[in-house]
Amino acid sequence: MAENDILYFELNTGAKIPSVGLGTWQSSPGLVAEAVTAAIKLGYRHIDCAQIYGNEAEIGSALKKLFEEGVVKREDLWITSKLWNRDHAPEDVPLALDRTLRDLQIDYLDLYLMHWPVKMKKGSVGFQPETLDQTDLPATWKAMEALYDLGKARAIGVSNFSTKKLADLLDVARVPPAVNQVEIHPSWQQAKLHEFCKSKGVHLTGYSPLGSPGTTWIKSDVLKNPILITVAEKLGKTPAQVALRWGLQMGHSVLPKSTNEARIKENFGVYGWSIPEDLFAKFTEFEQARLLKGSSFVHETCGSYRNLEDLWDGEI
Ligand code: A2P
Repeated sequence: MAENDILYFELNTGAKIPSVGLGTWQSSPGLVAEAVTAAIKLGYRHIDCAQIYGNEAEIGSALKKLFEEGVVKREDLWITSKLWNRDHAPEDVPLALDRTLRDLQIDYLDLYLMHWPVKMKKGSVGFQPETLDQTDLPATWKAMEALYDLGKARAIGVSNFSTKKLADLLDVARVPPAVNQVEIHPSWQQAKLHEFCKSKGVHLTGYSPLGSPGTTWIKSDVLKNPILITVAEKLGKTPAQVALRWGLQMGHSVLPKSTNEARIKENFGVYGWSIPEDLFAKFTEFEQARLLKGSSFVHETCGSYRNLEDLWDGEI
C-alpha cells in the first residue's frame, strides 16, 4: 500500500477518517460479528454503525474480543454511529448515544451522525406515517454539539441532508458538521452537494457505494453498468473495486457493506492503483438516479415533508 495513497481524509476537526469503512446496514445479527472481525484482520480501521441497524450489541462483542486479543487498539479504529429519528428530542439525544456506546462497549465515538433530517415520535416503533413528527433540526443539532463538547463524540455530522438542509444547518451551527453521509456511487454522484460540501469543508461519505445490490426493494444495476465493466476490464479490477476507487478519487470515503469474507477482502483492494484520467472522465456519462429515496419519511399530512421533493429539496 503506497504511503501517499488515499488512505484517509482529513475532517474539519483535524481528525483523519479512514477512506474505506465496513458498512453494517442489513448485516444480520449472527453474521455481523464475523464480518467485523474479518474486516479488521484484513486491515479495515473504520466501521460504520447505527442504532437502527439492530446489530450494535453484536458488533460491540466482536470489538471487545478484538481489543482483548490485541488485534487492534481502540485508538486505531474509527467508529461511526447514528442517532435514530425517534431520538431527535434534545433530551433523548444523550440517552441514545449512551445506549449506542453501551451496546458497542466503547466510551466514545469517532463520529456521531444525525441519521436523517426526520423526526419520529418518541418511543415510536416502525415506519407508519403516524410516527412522523415536526423536525426541529437546530434543536437536535444543539444537543449533538453538547455531546461533542463532552468528548463522547469526537466529531459530529449529519446523514441524508440535501444541499439546502446542510446550508441551513451551517447557518445556525456552533460546531459545523464534519461529515454528511449520503448515497453516492457512479449512478448517483450528487454533483451539486459535492461542490457545496467542498466549498464548506464538509466531508462527504458515500453509503451504498456499490448501489446496494442486496436491497430487495430497489432495482440496482450499478455493478452491471457497461461503462463500469469496461473500465474494470481495462484495469484488471472488479466492478466493485472500480466503483469504490472512483469514490476515493472523488474525495469521498466509502462504506461497502459485506458479510462475505472474500468480498470484504475484494472491497479493500482499492489501494496501490488508480483510475487514469481518461477512464475517470467516462464516469460523467453514467445515467443518474437516486436508489434510496426515503419514501417512508414523507406524507401528505404527517411530519415535516409532504413529498420527496420536500425531503430532498429537489435533489431527487
Ligand atoms: P454480501 O454482504 O453478501 O457481500 P452497498 O455497500 O452498496 O450497500 O452494497 C452491499 C451489497 O453488495 C450487499 O448485498 C453485499 O452482499 C454486496 N456486495 C458487497 N461487496 C460486493 C462485491 N465486491 N461484489 C458484489 N457484491 C458485493
